[in-house]
Amino acid sequence: MRKIQKHEGVIAKYKKYLPVTAKTPIITLNEGNTPLIYAGYLSGIIGRGFEVYLKYEGLNPTGSFKDRGMTMAISKACEERSNAVMCASTGNTSASAAAYAVRAGLKCIVLIPKGAIALGKLSQALIHGAVVLAVDGNFDAALDLVKDITAKYPITLVNSLNPYRIEGQKTASFEICDSLGEAPEFQVMPVGNAGNITAYWKGYKEYKKEGKIGSLPKMLGFQAKGAAPIVRGYPVINPKTIATAIRIGNPASWRQAEDARDESGGLIDMVSDNEIITAYKLLAAKEGVFVEPASAASIAGLLKLCRRGFFKKIKVAKAKNKKIVCILTGHGLKDPDRAIESIKEPKVVKPKLEAILREIGY
Ligand code: F0G
Repeated sequence: MRKIQKHEGVIAKYKKYLPVTAKTPIITLNEGNTPLIYAGYLSGIIGRGFEVYLKYEGLNPTGSFKDRGMTMAISKACEERSNAVMCASTGNTSASAAAYAVRAGLKCIVLIPKGAIALGKLSQALIHGAVVLAVDGNFDAALDLVKDITAKYPITLVNSLNPYRIEGQKTASFEICDSLGEAPEFQVMPVGNAGNITAYWKGYKEYKKEGKIGSLPKMLGFQAKGAAPIVRGYPVINPKTIATAIRIGNPASWRQAEDARDESGGLIDMVSDNEIITAYKLLAAKEGVFVEPASAASIAGLLKLCRRGFFKKIKVAKAKNKKIVCILTGHGLKDPDRAIESIKEPKVVKPKLEAILREIGY
């Protein structure tokens, strides 16, 4: 008999809030239930009694938050008797789609921008047997093609334009509230195609309506400076950033991201590649958490706001809830090349005791 596990994925846990019925086949890798880690170093930087927490979504089964949405999208594709799924991706969506498609026995086709996705992500899509096509263009062009093809052929689109993706991804906000016993005051996150900010905001609003939380967080989103269409107010034709996951010039959920920002009283700002790399290294060196560069945009944003005195302006008396949750969307091992490039490679030493002792100062 199949052994029952404590956590059987986000659909089993949050069924009540998801569009599933007894007839929906649940395709899962037991995603979700990721840790909310207290960040002592960052809390010290922000000061004034603020507590910073890291929602480490890189610990999902394929190493990113996409699994929460993919369990829903693939389960519903099965329920609707689809036999193929397709997405455009900067890497993580394709890794997740490929893995969940295997479990469902579906064909998976992914379009990736040529030469612009991190090695770990490419290896995942390939090893799970997806049909991977590298398009000589950027993510936005690849997504347009996927929209076109899935509209004309019996293939299910599993980008976040698929509403089931958003439904699944909103479970991360439920987990945060369940852990804290309340919504945080601020939630900080990277913004690319803008599906995730849309999903979190939807989740928080639903939990508030259900009476699970008394207040809503302010949503603080960050784009990369060279790929910041929402901040600039116009599509970026040729987006550029080392954070390849969020190298997107025309986000599909643009309007919804603006709604989340405006309804919550938050903001969407941008951070430079330098700021992203500084935050990426700081998180690894000071908090012991390894993320991919796009995820470090959360921390880069937090630090930028702190430098500007943003958190000093918050009235302490009013802010009885002083929790800040930063979403760390993907694991650092997704992009090992970036880690090695950012830090010195290991020094080569002779295989001799004295040589090693000299290096380590004993
Ligand atoms: N962080 C990571 C690690 C991502 O992979 C993505 C998006 C984002 C943040 C931004 O989330 O698009 O919902 O605003 N990756 C997509 C992909 C585009 O294809 O894997 P978003």
